[in-house]
Amino acid sequence: MSLKEQIDKSKIPQHVAIIMDGNGRWAKQRQHDRTFGHESGVISVKETVETAAEIGIKYLTLYAFSSENWNRPKSEVDALMSLLVKTINQETKTLNDNNIRLKAIGDLQSLESQTFAELQKAIENTASNTQMTLILALSYSSRWEITKAIEQIAIKLKNKELQIEEINQDLVSSFLNTAPYPDPELLIRTSGEYRISNFLLWQIAYTELYFTPILWPDFRSENLYEAILDYQNRERRFGMTSEQLLNF
Ligand code: IPE
Ligand code: IPE
Ligand code: MG
Repeated sequence: MSLKEQIDKSKIPQHVAIIMDGNGRWAKQRQHDRTFGHESGVISVKETVETAAEIGIKYLTLYAFSSENWNRPKSEVDALMSLLVKTINQETKTLNDNNIRLKAIGDLQSLESQTFAELQKAIENTASNTQMTLILALSYSSRWEITKAIEQIAIKLKNKELQIEEINQDLVSSFLNTAPYPDPELLIRTSGEYRISNFLLWQIAYTELYFTPILWPDFRSENLYEAILDYQNRERRFGMTSEQLLNF
């Protein structure tokens, strides 16, 4: 049986998040510059997005550029941003053909105005699609997001639009960029690094983590199937015991 056939269709995670890592190392192994790695990574993005939609994942969040990535050499940042604009332009049609809606999280105001405008255009052009929501994390970091949420809550308290007694976990979630989306059930990180790098810290409280040594430009549908099968074989206990879960 192929990996795809082994997947239990009734247990597909609703939301999968991916830290797409290893483009630079992939390029270096081939004596190319890092930009070549990023360009090759776009092929993995396309395949992953289409496969995810096909197997019934409803939300796919891709970590494309972190707040910390602004600290990379300007030439690399510029190359990443133009690749982003180019890919968004080229892929809007495919997103529409596959009924995929584009969204973004992160400090979008910090993007260059042209990048922001192109992103906004693609978001609007795909807004009515319903098969899957593709969420790009751009200029995103979880601590930035949580800090912003605290600031917004504090302003509402000060203006007496909110009472202290109303503060609970759901309220905090509602102030995050991810408010419209469920928490991911599965987080994948490629390239053999075992860290979260400031990604969705609040949202992954009970997410299953999957690490693979595959470098992002080598990531293909089969690797996504492997991750989902691994997830499907886990027991998510949420603090309870195995025995309790049997009667749940
Ligand atoms: C991930 O690949 C892409 C981004 C962070 C934008 P890297 O560029 O981090 O590749 P490595 O980790 O240096 O191999
Ligand atoms: C995380 O990868 C950010 C993205 C994948 C966009 P990095 O390569 O920037 O992470 P660190 O610096 O190795 O933790
Ligand atoms: Mg990296």
